Amino acid sequence: MVIIVGLPGPVTRAYRRLVPVTLRRLVPADAALLAELYRANRDFLAPWEPLRSEDFYTEAYQRIWLADALDRQAAGSTLPWMIMDDGEPVGRITISDVVRGAFDSAHLGYWVAGAANGRGIASAAVAEAIRIAFVELGLHRVQAGTLIHNTGSQKVLARNGFERIGLARSYLRIAGSWQDHLLFQRISDGSLGELTGSN
Ligand SMILES: CC(C)(COP(=O)(O)OP(=O)(O)OC[C@H]1O[C@@H](n2cnc3c(N)ncnc32)[C@H](O)[C@@H]1OP(=O)(O)O)[C@@H](O)C(=O)NCCC(=O)NCCS
Repeated sequence: MVIIVGLPGPVTRAYRRLVPVTLRRLVPADAALLAELYRANRDFLAPWEPLRSEDFYTEAYQRIWLADALDRQAAGSTLPWMIMDDGEPVGRITISDVVRGAFDSAHLGYWVAGAANGRGIASAAVAEAIRIAFVELGLHRVQAGTLIHNTGSQKVLARNGFERIGLARSYLRIAGSWQDHLLFQRISDGSLGELTGSN
């Protein structure tokens, strides 16, 4: 087994070698692709996401959403990516709510298509997003939240060095009802070669 310095455990490098996962910035032309991905994963994602209108699954809706997301990207508050597996789009990952100053923190959210689950894709995508957050953006902290029963996502976060920071009651309206979440954070500690606040 191979240990990669700075990452928790032997998993990430092994997964990256087996699964060539990359993150690609979203572009305006992705609207049709996003609509198609969401339509194909509608039932799979339903228990884990807010209720969606019928409109959400259309190219027109995704075009408007994308324009807004790319505006927020230009302002530096959001970085939305497509997760690519061997060149094929298989999900989405986003660093959002970037707050600078004394906080230097952001949220991380992600999903991987049902048909592509269990192959280490989310684990590799989160590892790359963390590298970007700490090394390229210079953030100090990244937070993620999961439903209490989302053990798959909790495994992805643990594998990427996130620590549990608590239980937030009635935190997000998922699948139509306010649901408790477990909150996790990863603090930049220089182990990815990044400068830290104490450097
Ligand atoms: C959670 C999710 C991102 C995982 O994606 P993935 O590409 O399958 O993740 P990985 O393969 O990197 O790792 C998942 C791990 O959790 C495990 N796992 C998945 N479901 C599990 C469950 N119900 N109980 C225990 N372990 C579970 C997998 O076996 C895997 O572990 P392993 O590699 O040791 O076998 C994906 O299932 C998903 O998008 N779910 C719906 C949306 C969502 O939950 N997003 C995250 C919101 S916090």
